[in-house]
Amino acid sequence: MDTGTRPRLPFLDGARRGTARAVATAALVAMTCGASTLVAPSQAARAAPPAGAALNTASGAALDTAAAGALGAAAFAAPGDAAGTAHPRPRPRVDCRHVKCVALTFDDGPGPYTDTLLAYLAAYRARATFFVVGGNVVTYPRVLRRTVAAGHEIGNHTWSHPDLRRLSPAGVRSQLVRTDRVIQAATGVVPRLVRPPYGAFNRTVRRQTARPLVLWSVDTLDWRYRNSATVARRALRWVRPGSVILFHDIHPTTVRAIPRVLRNLAKRGYRFVTVSELFGGHPPRVVFSATPPELP
Ligand code: NI
Repeated sequence: MDTGTRPRLPFLDGARRGTARAVATAALVAMTCGASTLVAPSQAARAAPPAGAALNTASGAALDTAAAGALGAAAFAAPGDAAGTAHPRPRPRVDCRHVKCVALTFDDGPGPYTDTLLAYLAAYRARATFFVVGGNVVTYPRVLRRTVAAGHEIGNHTWSHPDLRRLSPAGVRSQLVRTDRVIQAATGVVPRLVRPPYGAFNRTVRRQTARPLVLWSVDTLDWRYRNSATVARRALRWVRPGSVILFHDIHPTTVRAIPRVLRNLAKRGYRFVTVSELFGGHPPRVVFSATPPELP
């Protein structure tokens, strides 16, 4: 599903006035709920030492080799559907109050480049969140199964990527329910997050689901800049602890930008978490980013 010709202006017209309020509310919710919803320090202390810690100190070259190796090995070994039996390597719980976290998010797939992206993420033991389109899940169910098996989070990005503000309440619900069904059929998982296409929502849209509406705080504009260096540079320039970064894994240029993003951010001490992990399992009603006040 190509987004190239679509305008991607997240907070258009009707939503604009509400957006400032929504940002303020989200920030407030994040601040007030942060402490109670994140992992308690005692829990964090009980967690095993970070098995992936060494990755942050490994050289970039080694990591690139690892990524390439993972790609080769996988050759998308995905034996028919080993995904059903594969389990992600256990990973200690990350407490985003005390470490720098970033949530990489990938929209509009699954698609033909998603498997390559999964290999890059695996090389860094990075978790990400995939907001998938129902129509593409039907085309690539095995890719989605492998995504879930690798430990990534899946979000609902509607069936056919409409501007939900233009739909009736029943139309909005239908977009979400159909997508939930195909995701569940492919993976056994029902997504706990929703990302409205174009970031466009209003009160009517919001009332059709109790799930968090996940937007973003860093837009790479990768649908416009089909250039890996530009996409990586935009992500690296604007990232902050708690950022939610928007990418689209339907563009090969975006997928090719990811090793550089992972290498650079890992060196800077970032941990790559899912959107739910970023909020200790309890994202607020509307998500732009998390800015835990405890972080430097
Ligand atoms: Ni989209």
